[in-house]
Amino acid sequence: MNILFMGPPGAGKGTQAERIVSEFNIPHISTGDAFRLAKSQGTPLGLEAQKYMDQGLYVPDDITIGIVRERLQQPDCEQGFLLDGFPRTTAQAEALDEIMKSLGRELNHVINLKVDRDLLLARLTGRRICKSCGSTYHVMFNPPQVDGVCDKCQGELYQRTDDNAEKVGTRLDEYVTKTAPLLEYYEAKGILRQVDGEKEIDAVSQEIQSLLRGKA
Ligand code: AP5
Ligand code: MG
Ligand code: ZN
Repeated sequence: MNILFMGPPGAGKGTQAERIVSEFNIPHISTGDAFRLAKSQGTPLGLEAQKYMDQGLYVPDDITIGIVRERLQQPDCEQGFLLDGFPRTTAQAEALDEIMKSLGRELNHVINLKVDRDLLLARLTGRRICKSCGSTYHVMFNPPQVDGVCDKCQGELYQRTDDNAEKVGTRLDEYVTKTAPLLEYYEAKGILRQVDGEKEIDAVSQEIQSLLRGKA
């Protein structure tokens, strides 16, 4: 199953992806996570990506497309994959079509998580992430059992540098101008499915699973 998750910053793409990939046993491919990893390792890619991410801007298409092209050719993607946060521009969507064609594959589902703009800021500023295993929490909506400590691995929780009100504003603007138009692109292909991302985390997961299993 080849799946794509779309939605604005804070819609719950990463939270839902964690659950869906363990249910369907496919790799989770997040371009944001890939850039953050490269940044933490101080690689040339990471340093280049950092220039844009730290301002809340999109990383240029050629860099982003190159990463996904390479990743989708790895053997663990043969049984399917879940793309989170790619494509975000028309050029990226067209490149993905071309990559899929060259691999003889097709996208099966595009899930769009719909969340109102007002809620996104609260979600993003309260987000905390585990330094060791990457699990995502929220100080109010999904708190860990012990403040600042990951339930799963006891790792330390941190806040992303782009999760403040100023950067979130820029990120949302990028989404509205460059990514929202892509919904029509997938609607026209007949593979776009809308999910209410404002419900509780478990309810959203169930809705997505029903869609993926063809029961909705
Ligand atoms: P990326 O890391 O992908 O960030 P994003 O798109 O801004 O999305 P987020 O990860 O912030 O949100 P999410 O939807 O995953 O929400 P989450 O599940 O964590 O990209 C970062 C940057 O990398 C970009 O700004 C850009 O610079 C660059 N980049 C990446 N891909 C690129 C591309 N293709 N092209 C160009 N540049 C690219 O949830 C958020 C919070 O809400 C959490 O605290 C969670 O616990 C909580 N929450 C989740 N669901 C619920 C719920 N149902 N109810 C209550 N709380 C919830
Ligand atoms: Mg995410
Ligand atoms: Zn952890």
